[in-house]
Amino acid sequence: MAGPWVLGIESSCDDTAAAVVDPDGRIQGDVISGQDALHADYGGVVPELASREHLAHVRQVVEQAMAQAGVPLSKLDGIAVTVGPGLIGSLLVGVSFARALGFASSKPVIGVNHLEGHMFAPFVGSPEPEFPFVALVVSGGHTSLYVVEALGRYRVLGATRDDAAGEAFDKVAKLLGLGYPGGAHVDRLARDGNPGAVAFPRAMLAKGGYDFSFSGLKTAVRYHLERAGATVAHADVAASFQEAVVDVLVAKTLKAANEYRVARILVSGGVAANTVLRQRFEGACRRAGYRLAVPAARFCTDNGAMIGWVGWQRIKHGLGSTGLCVRPRLAL
Ligand code: KG4
Ligand code: ZN
Repeated sequence: MAGPWVLGIESSCDDTAAAVVDPDGRIQGDVISGQDALHADYGGVVPELASREHLAHVRQVVEQAMAQAGVPLSKLDGIAVTVGPGLIGSLLVGVSFARALGFASSKPVIGVNHLEGHMFAPFVGSPEPEFPFVALVVSGGHTSLYVVEALGRYRVLGATRDDAAGEAFDKVAKLLGLGYPGGAHVDRLARDGNPGAVAFPRAMLAKGGYDFSFSGLKTAVRYHLERAGATVAHADVAASFQEAVVDVLVAKTLKAANEYRVARILVSGGVAANTVLRQRFEGACRRAGYRLAVPAARFCTDNGAMIGWVGWQRIKHGLGSTGLCVRPRLAL
């Protein structure tokens, strides 16, 4: 049975993005307009500037995605849009735009949870996910572990008690004098460093169940830099910090897969773009006999395709919407 044509719109943080999903679940148009340069001077996303920028670009981004796909508005079966979690002003731009577009074209609009988008990003472009799996969602705002039995059936095993993994990458990048967002910079710098150079703490590795904590690690990096002063090799610090984050993420995720007896592991969100994280998960899953799914690099960080794809699944299987109210603190 042919599935629907769906337009996906994402504006929860600082990327304005849109994509078109065809009846087979493939991505036909995919446009992202980022704001890194705008926020770089502030070392983080400035919400007021982000929403203004979304407003300036959303129409053009959607039109470009539709043009790439070569489908007219009349051919769409639905419009999927991120309703949360995220920055309220940013979310409002995407949701208002989607609702107006749906009203003008008499197309249904369905709300999608941003975290659900990230979670299923490894399946973007393919027709169906394979259940069950353990999912690690690691982004700038979230670090959570789930057991997933079906789309919409999530059991939260644990989450970060303080900073998200991506947030820790961004803060450490700032300490090292690197640009924003910091994850990719730390990733690059760490290639020239020794991951065993500094023994940074692995918080809650043995205890704490499936919860995480990364703020102590960030503080340990700061103290180390202050103590060592000019003599310290920044590449070694970056590599050692990254190793500490990856150790904890890999260990807890594999422990969960073992305890909940699933054969498949998914890792997604912006931090899933990290080179060492991907290598370590690949090695650990191969040795322990788990099947690993990670998104293509482009679909790790925020994008419209993951939102469109979840909307496509929801429409195809009659699963309905997450609602159309903007929900900055929406959980999964
Ligand atoms: O998923 P995302 O685009 O936005 C949120 O929903 O939060 O994730 C952005 C986060 C940022 O913290 C960024 O530093 C991190 O993902 N990130 C990385 C890498 N690329 C992006 N962290 C580590 N290594 C990378 N290569
Ligand atoms: Zn995100």
